[in-house]
Amino acid sequence: MPKRLVHVHLGNVGREHINPHETETAIAAKQNAHIDYIGIDKLHLHVPKEIPNWKQLHEDFAEGLRKLDDNSIDIIDSKISLFLYGEWYKKTGELDGTSFDQGLNTLKVAYEKLKPGGEVIVVLPKFRISNVEPAFAQIPFSKVEVIPLTQEEAQQTEWLKAYTGGLRSVKWPHKIIGIK
Ligand SMILES: C[S@@+](CC[C@H](N)C(=O)[O-])C[C@H]1O[C@@H](n2cnc3c(N)ncnc32)[C@H](O)[C@@H]1O
Repeated sequence: MPKRLVHVHLGNVGREHINPHETETAIAAKQNAHIDYIGIDKLHLHVPKEIPNWKQLHEDFAEGLRKLDDNSIDIIDSKISLFLYGEWYKKTGELDGTSFDQGLNTLKVAYEKLKPGGEVIVVLPKFRISNVEPAFAQIPFSKVEVIPLTQEEAQQTEWLKAYTGGLRSVKWPHKIIGIK
């Protein structure tokens, strides 16, 4: 039997009382029965029993990743979560986010967990990607690239929908991809 793909979502909750069936992980797991999904978030989320290919870890990103086997994951992605930090969050106090150093530490652990050829994909508003590039540069990825999201991709999650200021906007979400 072919080996199943493993896909990790870092920061897949977003708010405390979200309907689990509306999360990016529930939608993806229902659409892709051949992929095993692992969500990691410090906010608790109840996983519906009827979605067997989804496991949730109630952990900090780096701690949750450490529980997974090295060289075992195909994709680790994080939408508007990893590296979302700084004065903006300190001011609103809504979420504490992850600092640059926490993000870099998470990226180092993520690299160990990826299979060769696996990818880390971090999605953030365009103006935040330049803050993240120096962290990607410290990891021995074989290739790093930055790509704007398509209109369709930018509608994938609740927080992404908040960044639809137009394709030319500095807020338009981009993905930075590191390939092992
Ligand atoms: C802004 S929400 C984004 C949710 C979803 N990805 C979306 O795009 O709608 C950020 C999420 O990341 C989680 N988060 C942020 N930093 C974290 C960390 N260091 N460890 C675990 N979870 C974290 C928060 O609890 C929250 O659920």
